[in-house]
Amino acid sequence: MIDSSNSIYKDHHYKAVFFETFGCQMNKLDAELSLGLLQEEGYRIVDKVDEADVILFNTCSVRQHAEDKVYSHLGALKTLKKRHPEVIVGVLGCMAQKDGESIFKRMPHVDLVCGTRMFSRLPELILNIRNYGLHVLAIDEDQVVHVKRAVTHRPNFYQAFVTIIRGCDNFCSYCIVPYVRGREISRTIPDIKEEVQALVSSGCKEITLLGQNINTYGKGLSENVTLGDLLSELNDLDGLERIRFVTSHPADMSRDLIRTMSRLGKVCEHLHMPAQSGSDQILKRMRRGYTAGYYRNLISYARELIPHIAVASDFIVGFPGETDEDFQETIRLMEDIRFHNCFIFKYSPRTGTKAADLEDDVADEIKRARNMRLLELQKGISLEENKKLIGREVQVLVEGASKADSNKLSGRTRQNHIVVFHGSREFVGKLVDVLIHDVTDLTLYGTLT
Ligand code: 5AD
Ligand code: SF4
Repeated sequence: MIDSSNSIYKDHHYKAVFFETFGCQMNKLDAELSLGLLQEEGYRIVDKVDEADVILFNTCSVRQHAEDKVYSHLGALKTLKKRHPEVIVGVLGCMAQKDGESIFKRMPHVDLVCGTRMFSRLPELILNIRNYGLHVLAIDEDQVVHVKRAVTHRPNFYQAFVTIIRGCDNFCSYCIVPYVRGREISRTIPDIKEEVQALVSSGCKEITLLGQNINTYGKGLSENVTLGDLLSELNDLDGLERIRFVTSHPADMSRDLIRTMSRLGKVCEHLHMPAQSGSDQILKRMRRGYTAGYYRNLISYARELIPHIAVASDFIVGFPGETDEDFQETIRLMEDIRFHNCFIFKYSPRTGTKAADLEDDVADEIKRARNMRLLELQKGISLEENKKLIGREVQVLVEGASKADSNKLSGRTRQNHIVVFHGSREFVGKLVDVLIHDVTDLTLYGTLT
């Protein structure tokens, strides 16, 4: 018999949770970890808000558009909440951290605002609302996130993300991340290894290490360790086949780390290292701490040591004061580097950042046109690069059925290309060789060899 007087079991009537996540990979992983915790408390996940007892949004603040979407989703819940006041509505993550108390003012039907470092206490916070009927604001910047991972809750069994450093100390002038995710805090190597080992023991083959600014991993830990040290230790784990890490910052990316990558067999030939702009003037105003020339040299060095390395980037168009000439420099950088893929964003001023003091003087039509131009350019480059793979064999970690065609399998190469091919389910979770015969800018198609 369960004693319900002072335990979490008091919550046993309220067991259906709807959870939606916005934003980056770290948010998706935090969502996964939060859901893991809730499932351990007996919650089941539902995919319709009107079946839920608890509705949670894990939010993003990186651009205004992401915030607008969340506020509109929240607004849409007003009538539901009127009909069912017992349903708990919670806002988690970056926007919760940034807007705090003011979310209750703007959306009085919200019950919970839970910041970026408090989600491990979700079950308890929800219970407090349930038991005492209060609004709960849980934001503590100094909190160290510690979540015991329930390894069964990840969406893809053979591939998993592992956060190794949270926060960012860089303060690029446009970026809200340091304000909402706080200062950099690294996890220790033994702690990370334990999590990766547990994932590998449960069948995981590929790990992607996550951090907003992953190259500074180790800073502030009592032991003097670097990302290279962590990669070397993980490389020795039996059963683990592939290791990736994102996101790299060009100014913090050392040549030493590139040498380490080239030495370690399990570390994939894949780098996500945002350039943001090709113009030195803009880079300076973005406070990025490098020039386009420095970026080019870094990539040349990486390609010298790791010939087939795929480099992905992010770019922001329409940063304050970006002229046509500045934009042409970005085009030149893209043409010269020939990235594997790029994410392009229109500049969005974020209150509280340094760039918010600059006039947002590039008209929206120009931002849109520059965005389109870069997308088109990258699409062409991706297609040309992918065509070079026709007739070649690539190693694929098979993830499961293809989303577009469930009769086919889908997986990724070490460089992170998506590959679709015919094959039986028994290959799922295995490394196979696929001969490529057809490509688009986003996908490779082939046959098992
Ligand atoms: N406006 C537009 N894009 C931004 N990014 C970060 N801050 C902003 C902003 N204020 C982009 C950067 C970063 C990616 C995650 O989001 O390109 O690399
Ligand atoms: Fe933002 Fe710059 Fe930190 Fe990346 S490195 S999270 S762009 S401040």
